[in-house]
Amino acid sequence: MSEYIVEMRHVTKRFPGIVANDDVSLGIKKGEIFALLGENGAGKSTLMSILFGMYEPDEGEVYVRGKKVETFSPNHATELNIGMVHQHFKLVSNYTITENIILGMEPQKKKFGFLPVVDIKNTNKKIAELSKKFGLEVDPTQKIENINVSMQQRVEILKMLYREAEILIFDEPTAVLTPQEIEFLLEIIREMRRNGKTIILITHKLEEIKQVADRCAIMNRGKLIEICDVAETSTKKMAELMVGREVSFTQEKTPCKPGEVMLKVENLVVKNADGFPVVNGVSFNIRSGEIFAIAGVAGNGQVEIADAIAGLAPAAGGKVILDGQDITNSPVKARNKMGIAYIPEDRQTWGLILDFTLSENLLLRRYDIAPYCVNGVLHREHFTEKSEELIEHFDIRSGQGGQTIVRSMSGGNQQKAIIAREIDLDTPFVIFVQPTRGLDIGAIERIHSQIIAERDKGKAILLVSLELDEIMNLADTIGVIYNGQLLKIAPAETMTSNEVGQYMMGVKE
Ligand SMILES: Nc1ncnc2c1ncn2[C@@H]1O[C@H](COP(=O)(O)OP(=O)(O)O)[C@@H](O)[C@H]1O
Ligand SMILES: [Mg+2]
Repeated sequence: MSEYIVEMRHVTKRFPGIVANDDVSLGIKKGEIFALLGENGAGKSTLMSILFGMYEPDEGEVYVRGKKVETFSPNHATELNIGMVHQHFKLVSNYTITENIILGMEPQKKKFGFLPVVDIKNTNKKIAELSKKFGLEVDPTQKIENINVSMQQRVEILKMLYREAEILIFDEPTAVLTPQEIEFLLEIIREMRRNGKTIILITHKLEEIKQVADRCAIMNRGKLIEICDVAETSTKKMAELMVGREVSFTQEKTPCKPGEVMLKVENLVVKNADGFPVVNGVSFNIRSGEIFAIAGVAGNGQVEIADAIAGLAPAAGGKVILDGQDITNSPVKARNKMGIAYIPEDRQTWGLILDFTLSENLLLRRYDIAPYCVNGVLHREHFTEKSEELIEHFDIRSGQGGQTIVRSMSGGNQQKAIIAREIDLDTPFVIFVQPTRGLDIGAIERIHSQIIAERDKGKAILLVSLELDEIMNLADTIGVIYNGQLLKIAPAETMTSNEVGQYMMGVKE
């Protein structure tokens, strides 16, 4: 028998127009933590979805415990004791934790010897035992809609364990967690290894790999680049293999030289559709030449602050003052004219017109002014010239350059297009909400240096991000939001990421 519990030989998987996995061969040993590292779109999820039976490879073979896999289906993978926690959880929100865990495999007992009923009591007991063994405490009777993301992830993990998974695949499990929750998850993963389980950890975070993984496979554009021994390989080396060039982790950033107050937010209140104040009395200032970053766990009101400043959500109370002018009730277009550029969280609804070309999208905010439009006549040649300049400068990759229909572009390149267009407006105040969400290290690095360059030109910048690393890298001042309120505002250099993480969870001094 081979030394590997899982072996993939020459696996190729194609999607229309792209080879997602290109002749990948690798072996995973029983009882190891095997990391899969690669930029966005490198083919990690596809490769592991094949192992979990969601796709059949176009070419190549998969072996589990030395036996060739003939049937590709999640049911068969479950029979082979393979489990997967997907990037986006697949839980039913109005079911309880127990109901979700047993979904599809309800254990039955016979009432009066013949009526089948679901044996909830015994199931609850078994779940409680599993939770205890792995330190995954949950209340099995809670409904999914009432628990937070980190709890939901525990449910996904318990679901795998309940099905007696021995090979556990985690697809970017830490993307949605706070630093403290990440530590906790990594400890659970180690505990699973101690119990003899085999773990596959997909991530693009090098630190996590360094902390827990034994070996790491690095993928780039569908191909396997290398499998390295984590203890013997530096994170820098891994990053370079991953992006195919040298990278710097921390941005070169000189101390900020703040000027006058550009944006003043006083006692801002924003209510949701139910009239609940999701932003509840928030005040802060941003000066020219300063990056003010709002840190916080998703859903604490940070996006609503950005929306209220940009005019996309009405303020129910308080004031927003831009460069001395009260804009609390101004329409969006007026705010834009007065100098707000906005890179929104929801790219597809607010950011782009998907059926327009890239070139049209890049000029969306300027088509009605000179030199693009003079006396009511559009000048296409200026469109082309300008969009080519932006495509080049922001490294926006697409099939047919400016003529590409935006809908067909990858999410990362759509994001680069919005950033290019908004930065190019050259407004004194720019809002970035989750500017690098879903992008890979190479693109993140480029966008971060662009944000810093804008600051250095003297712009005031509001950054809203769920990525603590991003906040720590870029912020001059950090405001931590919890439950609609800024629990703490302080210069970035006075706080460690651990302290920020504490405030994010609502811990006060
Ligand atoms: N179901 C699908 N249909 C078409 N293209 C897909 C599908 N799934 C993934 N792809 C493409 O395959 C490539 C690899 O994707 P994926 O495996 O998700 O990468 P990763 O997980 O490393 O980010 C990407 O270019 C992606 O757009
Ligand atoms: Mg993926």
